[in-house]
Amino acid sequence: MSEVRVHNLAISLDGFATGDGQSLEAPFGHAGERLHEWLVGTRFFHAADGLPGGTVGTENAFAERHEPGIGAEIMGAGKFGPPGWQDDPEWKGWWGPNPPFHSPVFVLTHRPRASVEMEGGTTYHFLDGTPQEAIDQARAAANGADIRVGGGPTVVREFLAEGLVDYAHIAQVPILLGRGVRLWDGLEALENTYDIEVVTSPSGITHLTLTAKIR
Ligand SMILES: NC(=O)c1ccc[n+]([C@@H]2O[C@H](COP(=O)([O-])OP(=O)(O)OC[C@H]3O[C@@H](n4cnc5c(N)ncnc54)[C@H](OP(=O)(O)O)[C@@H]3O)[C@@H](O)[C@H]2O)c1
Repeated sequence: MSEVRVHNLAISLDGFATGDGQSLEAPFGHAGERLHEWLVGTRFFHAADGLPGGTVGTENAFAERHEPGIGAEIMGAGKFGPPGWQDDPEWKGWWGPNPPFHSPVFVLTHRPRASVEMEGGTTYHFLDGTPQEAIDQARAAANGADIRVGGGPTVVREFLAEGLVDYAHIAQVPILLGRGVRLWDGLEALENTYDIEVVTSPSGITHLTLTAKIR
């Protein structure tokens, strides 16, 4: 059976994966770019942008695991666009005509619309359903490959709460945001169902891996 994976989800020390006040001008609200500075410096990220160079240490080792073996992504409405994107029939995500997914993407939303085919193999499908239904559809579209739950925190939390995630990599960044959307709320005693390991990088990022215990 293919796996359900989370990669490179960045949180602050106080557990926020996005800031307060998300908008078209500020996709991460008041957090700005601070949650992702560790990621954009990596060779993995540079290569995705067609740029040379980038760091090849601990951050890159985690970051580059984002792609291999993935056949479909599930994301939340809050990742797909700023608040209110559902009112714009022309909104096709943040990522331009050739998005970096190159696979089917299932956007969980209470206001679904017709699928949109983009360049480069990405097709956006819009789905109002349970997490399990989203996984079933993504799995059917992924040709046996793994499913990535790409965020944001509300959706990742939903999937973790239902025990549907096999593996998650969370990058904890040494900043305090104070407000926004927290990942961990309501996930009490997650350590009973996931083996949690920690790798601390010299950069100050703490990488957490959650691996589902044998069920
Ligand atoms: N830190 C990171 O690594 C990271 C990664 C990805 C994204 N982000 C950021 O996180 C933010 C988005 O996260 P978020 O927590 O606000 O939102 P989100 O998790 O992307 O999406 C949550 C929304 O998805 C819809 N939804 C969720 N479950 C559903 C279901 N079962 N059925 C139907 N619809 C469902 C609902 O939207 P509706 O009710 O409106 O339809 C819900 O409000 C953005 O700022 C983004 O930039 C951060």
